[in-house]
Amino acid sequence: MEQYIIRGGIPLAGEVEISGAKNAALGILAAAIMTDDTVLIDNLPDVRDINVLLEAMESIGVHVDRVTRHAVMMNSKDIGDVSVDYEYIKKIRASYYLIGALLGKYKKAEVPLPGGCNIGSRPIDLHIKGFKALGAKVTIRNGFIIATAEHLHGSHIYLDTVSVGATINIMMAASLAEGYTIIENCAREPHVVDVANFLNSMGANIRGAGTDVIRIRGVESLHRTEYSIIPDQIEAGTFMFAAAATKGDVMVKNVIPKHLEATTAKLLEIDCEVEEFDNAVRVVASKRLSSTNVKTLPYPGYPTDMQPQISVTLALARGTSIVTESIFENRFKYMDELTRMGADVRVEGNTAIISGVDTLTGARVSAPDLRAGAALVIAGLAAEGITTIDDIMYIQRGYESFDEKLRSLGAEIEKVNSEKEAMKFRLRTG
Ligand code: UD1
Repeated sequence: MEQYIIRGGIPLAGEVEISGAKNAALGILAAAIMTDDTVLIDNLPDVRDINVLLEAMESIGVHVDRVTRHAVMMNSKDIGDVSVDYEYIKKIRASYYLIGALLGKYKKAEVPLPGGCNIGSRPIDLHIKGFKALGAKVTIRNGFIIATAEHLHGSHIYLDTVSVGATINIMMAASLAEGYTIIENCAREPHVVDVANFLNSMGANIRGAGTDVIRIRGVESLHRTEYSIIPDQIEAGTFMFAAAATKGDVMVKNVIPKHLEATTAKLLEIDCEVEEFDNAVRVVASKRLSSTNVKTLPYPGYPTDMQPQISVTLALARGTSIVTESIFENRFKYMDELTRMGADVRVEGNTAIISGVDTLTGARVSAPDLRAGAALVIAGLAAEGITTIDDIMYIQRGYESFDEKLRSLGAEIEKVNSEKEAMKFRLRTG
């Protein structure tokens, strides 16, 4: 079983290039099946979630041609089956974007209902409410969501909770509905905007993405396009906190600094220096960090996907910090692992009270999910001694070449497959 092994204590220094946004790419790949023309998508991250979604798409008849490591040409004119296999949904929840895309294009979709996941129960009632409002009949049978419609029509939809997935899924289906749709209380995340821009580049008529009201005038069909995905703000933020926690100096390149404002604001609050450039940010941590309070919120608030990374950093800051998780109920699972590395943390419901310590010490820990896994890597990089991280397949779901990128910043980290390889690492770095 693959593990990361890390010898911590080295301040990260240098430059790192951020890949394309995984969460934008998931929506965009699904939306790409909505035309019969060939579509070129560039700046795709080479990560497991994306590769699994591409396989799921191939399994229903999409032709996928990998032009380079980061670009695919796709043609979906031969989709013969609107039913997606459970194997894919099990591996990657966001395959549910295929419901909105297939329903919009074929007026029919059969996709297994995604189960719970490690960060808590994740209902999709709002997606279903939106499809129904557009005129679809939605039933759940044998674990599948079956959505069908004679024709889809525009509608006025209010989302009770701000949901990225529901916003994107409804936006896709409404793009090919008859008439005008208004979605209120939308998610405003950069990847919602990126999916809207992509659909518009195929001829859709979507206005207002990035605000809380999206207006969509349905069109008859969509056409070919070439599109480059935005940079991944969560990957960027992860490297920014890795720089902070290791007292490093890192230039994070190929980013949109505006998308990183919540992260940047917190880094400044805890006494890091952050310098913004047109498409890069430099993070320098030259003194002991100070504590702060954080509450996760929908964009432009502080992202839940960056909660573990800031918490790990605060575990090393001076003073007590309070972190409140308001999006997902079960996102503090990694705190037990962090405690094993010497952190002083108490979790009460959706709040973590973190009393900063001077040092963390290396331990064997396991990644409970994608972002918490990345945060444990940060903890390992900052800790004294050796940390090994199990279950790194979660981390590989969303971080391209994570270990390579960290090594290029001077980190001692390696992916190992056996105790022998781990021993070699210990000897080489000891
Ligand atoms: C997306 C991101 C995920 C991120 C999350 C919140 C993708 C592929 N994933 O997930 O990385 O952590 O946004 O920023 O982009 N909810 C309902 N009913 C629904 C849908 C959601 O009650 O039908 C609730 C959820 O339980 C949660 C909140 O709404 O409390 C936000 O979830 P949502 O924005 O939908 O998250 P995802 O789109 O699943």
